[in-house]
Amino acid sequence: MSRHTETPRLTAPDIRARKGGDPVVCLTAYTAPMAKLLDPHCDLLLVGDSVGMVVHGLPNTVGVTLDMMILHGQAVMRGASQAMVVVDMPFGSYEASPEAAYANAARVLKETGAQAVKVESGPSIAATIAYLVERGIPVMGHVGLRPQAVNVDGKFRAKGRSPEERVQVLAEARAADEAGAFAIVVEGVDESLAPEITAAVAAPTIGIGASAQCDGQILVTDDLLGLFEWTPKFVRRYANLQTVIGQAVAAYAADVRARRFPAAAETYVLGGAKARQPRVARGDKRG
Ligand code: KIV
Repeated sequence: MSRHTETPRLTAPDIRARKGGDPVVCLTAYTAPMAKLLDPHCDLLLVGDSVGMVVHGLPNTVGVTLDMMILHGQAVMRGASQAMVVVDMPFGSYEASPEAAYANAARVLKETGAQAVKVESGPSIAATIAYLVERGIPVMGHVGLRPQAVNVDGKFRAKGRSPEERVQVLAEARAADEAGAFAIVVEGVDESLAPEITAAVAAPTIGIGASAQCDGQILVTDDLLGLFEWTPKFVRRYANLQTVIGQAVAAYAADVRARRFPAAAETYVLGGAKARQPRVARGDKRG
């Protein structure tokens, strides 16, 4: 159900209070217009470092910088007014020490106005989560398939095949929870592991490639909209915008080549008292 009335932006405690209740609806957003479209339907918008792959054409998220995240965080904050906005901390911005993580996360909150950051919470990151939370920075954890660890793992690989791996992912989730994470993304794990994690932690779990039994779900919006030819197994495509865009652009190109565009109604005729009034173009507001 969409939320149409003017309501204050959801907060970290609001999301945390949803544990075991109504599922938390989350999507990624990178731009102001998309954030505006998603905002009425979502509880939480994540400015994911997937922006590096989805928008900037990088092969993985390792090359994403703090400045990129801040720029996209600012854009999303301009578009969203109700959903909580969380910005991903990119690879290299939080691992070295809690102090370095604090300086970078504080910059994210100050310069974007977003309410929280997300960190991929491997075993060594729990102390950093506690350090940030104690100093006023809400943190979302991220366990299971951790895309920033792609060079250690060799590829993006679902977790929870072996008993040892299941124990490790469960321990990562417990550590993030005990450190004070207000929610935990559980990505790419065996379907039976996600409910186990959900039962073991006090924070709501937000699944992606996990299980419907998580406390909420997140997808990369561009995957849901069918903007890529290839989508991971766990994505449900709700639209095929790649085809829609392809058809629209092909029609435009054909019109330009045949000199059918612009038509009279799409041009300015200036100067005469009887001059035809053009339709107001989008650019007029700015000009
Ligand atoms: O970067 C991202 O978009 C994410 C989500 C897939 C959870 O971390």
